[in-house]
Amino acid sequence: MKNINTQVCPVALSGSLDNRIRRWLQNPRKILGPYVKEGMTVLDVGCGPGFFTIEMAMMVSKSGRVIVADMQEGMLRKVKEKIAGTELEKRVLLHKCEEDKIGVTLPVDFVLLFYMVHEVPDKQHFFKELQSILKPKGQILIVEPPVHVSKSAFEETVRIAEDAGFTVVERPKVFFSRGVVLKKG
Ligand SMILES: C[S@@+](CC[C@H](N)C(=O)[O-])C[C@H]1O[C@@H](n2cnc3c(N)ncnc32)[C@H](O)[C@@H]1O
Repeated sequence: MKNINTQVCPVALSGSLDNRIRRWLQNPRKILGPYVKEGMTVLDVGCGPGFFTIEMAMMVSKSGRVIVADMQEGMLRKVKEKIAGTELEKRVLLHKCEEDKIGVTLPVDFVLLFYMVHEVPDKQHFFKELQSILKPKGQILIVEPPVHVSKSAFEETVRIAEDAGFTVVERPKVFFSRGVVLKKG
């Protein structure tokens, strides 16, 4: 039997990830504005209850796509409920990941990894897989919480991503977080 990864945020706590206070402190449009553009195909891995997904779907507009991926069915169900009956349904693709495989085959322009990389057990494999999913000029935004992820642990993640072939583009400031943007190559 597979061990349960105790680091993973449970669905029961998803309410703490989607509320007005967070929207004010970590405004999705402000954070994602420099990277997510109309017509893009973007991927939100570890989407949780979809705090960033909804805004991303609006930002890519009708001609774009958002692939929302999570290893917990319960999180994907929350996103599904949020977009049910809205025009966003047509541009949001729900995808169930495995803990050790993202499994997305559609090439993407941008990947969001918000407060999730520290929950991934095999980061080397994770970033190698992302290399194959990203389009040639694609970018990744990694944001991690400083309580769970020390400065040195964050730098170790950046090093692993660099070993997988990514290059640091910038270090954006995100409220109460550590952040980095990486590009392919
Ligand atoms: C702390 S939540 C963050 C959710 C969302 N990104 C946000 O900022 O609101 C982390 C999410 O990552 C998911 N997750 C953890 N490890 C994962 C993996 N290896 N593959 C896919 N999803 C994963 C968890 O199920 C959980 O929904």
